Amino acid sequence: MININVCIGSACHVKGSYNMISTFQQLIEEHQLHDQVELRGVFCMGCCGQEGVSVRIGEGSPEKVTPIQARSFFKEKVLES
Ligand code: FES
Repeated sequence: MININVCIGSACHVKGSYNMISTFQQLIEEHQLHDQVELRGVFCMGCCGQEGVSVRIGEGSPEKVTPIQARSFFKEKVLES
């Protein structure tokens, strides 16, 4: 199981958390990964202030992802992992 944690704290929210979650949900549907990927909204990861939304895969370090990068991020971290 791959856990995708998307920050829904206020700084990330204004940078597009909601759209990011929608995009990931859509990709999970498209690739029929319901059994393999769990998507969660989480509170501030303490790394706001940079470009993009904080996203953490499993217990890894948070990474900054812009809504435009969401599909390529998913491809790299989930589909090709
Ligand atoms: S609000 Fe997202 S890391 Fe702080």
